[in-house]
Amino acid sequence: MALWGGRFTQQADAKFKYFNDSLRFDYRLAIQDIEGSIGWAKAIQSVGILTESELEQLIAALKEVRAEVEPNLAIILKDDAEDIHSWVESKLIEKVGDLGKKLHTGRSRNDQVAVDIKMWCKVQAVALQERIRALQERLVSVAEENQNSVMPGYTHLQRAQPVTFAHWCMAYYEMLERDFSRLSDANKRMGTCPLGSGALAGTAYGIDRDLLARNLGFDEATRNSLDSVSDRDHILELLSTASISMVHLSRFAEDLIIFNSGESGFLEMSDRVTSGSSLMPQKKNPDACELIRGKSGRVFGALTGLLTTLKGLPLAYNKDMQEDKEGIFDALETWQACLEIAELVLVDIQVNTERTREAAQQGYANATELADYLVAKGVPFREAHHIVGEAVVYAISKKEPLEALSIAEFQQFHPTIGDDVYPILSLESCLDKRCAKGGVNPQRVAEAIAAAKANLAS
Ligand code: ARG
Repeated sequence: MALWGGRFTQQADAKFKYFNDSLRFDYRLAIQDIEGSIGWAKAIQSVGILTESELEQLIAALKEVRAEVEPNLAIILKDDAEDIHSWVESKLIEKVGDLGKKLHTGRSRNDQVAVDIKMWCKVQAVALQERIRALQERLVSVAEENQNSVMPGYTHLQRAQPVTFAHWCMAYYEMLERDFSRLSDANKRMGTCPLGSGALAGTAYGIDRDLLARNLGFDEATRNSLDSVSDRDHILELLSTASISMVHLSRFAEDLIIFNSGESGFLEMSDRVTSGSSLMPQKKNPDACELIRGKSGRVFGALTGLLTTLKGLPLAYNKDMQEDKEGIFDALETWQACLEIAELVLVDIQVNTERTREAAQQGYANATELADYLVAKGVPFREAHHIVGEAVVYAISKKEPLEALSIAEFQQFHPTIGDDVYPILSLESCLDKRCAKGGVNPQRVAEAIAAAKANLAS
C-alpha cells in the first residue's frame, strides 16, 4: 500500500515504480527509522495527538518490528514497499491497526529520511573510527618490530635517503590519525536533529524539538526547516573523509606492491592475502593491495556523484536526493573493508631486512651526508652539493659506493676530506643525524611509537 494513494486514480507503471522505489537500498535505515518513529510518537503524544496508552502500544509495536528485523535487515527485501518509511508504517499498521495511521501526524518523509540518514551516519562514523584505530594499532606494532629494518626512502621513486620500515609505518599511522580526527569533526556537526521540520516549512504541532533531538541522541534541534530537509552535508563530509582516507590506503597499498615486487624484494606478503595465477605457477600476486588501490575509485566516484546531484537543486527537498544513499552505503562499506584488509595485509608481513639494507646502501643514499660533512669543514652548501655530485659520477664510473673510495680518491674532489669521512657515510650515521622532531633517528622513531601507543590507549 502506497502512503499517498488518495490523489491518484491510476496505478503507477511498474517500470516507474521500480525506478522510484528505494526500499531495495534504504532498508539499511530500518533501525534508525524505527528509533526516529519512537521519538516522534513521544513528541506528538506530548501535544495530545496520542493518549498515554496509545503511545505505549505504538512503542511496543515498533520495538517488536525492530526485534523482528534487527538480526537480519535483509529480510525486509522480500516485501514490496516504496521505501523504508512506508515499510515501517505498514508493519506498524499490521500490528496495531488504525492506531498506526496516527503516527505520521505532523511528520513528512522529508524530515524523516533526513533524520534517519543522519542517525545512520553517526553510527557509521563511530564504527569507522574503531576500524581506523585497529589499523593504527597494527601499524604501531609492525613499526615496533622493525625499528632496525633500514631501507631506502624515495623521492621521484629514486632512492633518496635511508629510512626504517618503522618510520614508513608511522607515516601511515599519522595519515590515519588525521582521518580519525576528520571523523570526530564531522561527528560534531552531526549533532543537530532535523526531525520536526515537516515537509519543508516546519511542523504545525508545538512540540519541543530540542527534547525530541536529545531523545534521539542528538545535542539539539536544527535551526531552519528549509535547510533541515535539504541538508546532506554530513553525507558529503563522510564521503570526502572516506575519499581522503582511501587516498592514504591506496598509497599504502601501492608502496607495499612495489616493496613486494621481484624488483624490490623488500618484503613478502603472506599467503593469506595473496593469490596465485591460473597460468603461471610461480606467481604470488598482491591482490589484496591491488584491490585496496582499485577500490579508491568507487569511493571518489560516490563523492563526485553526490556533489553533482546536489549542486543545482532548488530548496528544499527534491527526489534527486534519494540518490544520496547507494553511494554512501557503498562507499562506507568499501572504506571499512579496505581498512580491515589493510590490517590483515600487515599481520604476517615479512620484511627482508638483508635485502632492504643492501638496497639502502646502493643508490648513493649517503651523498647528502658527504655534502653535510663538507659543510662542517667550512665549504658552502651549494659548492659542497656540486663537489659531491662529481664524486658520485666518479663512484658510478667505478661501480662502487661512495664509502669504497680511498682518501686519495676523495681528495681529488676536496682536500679537506679525511679518514673521519667513513663513519659519517654509514647507514647508522645517516639515520642518527636526522634527530630533529619527526626525523628518522631511531630514538625519535621510538618516541613516536611510544607517543602513538599512549594515544591509542587513551
Ligand atoms: N525515499 C525518499 C528519499 O530517500 C524518502 C523521502 C521521500 N519524500 C518525498 N517527498 N517523496 O529521499
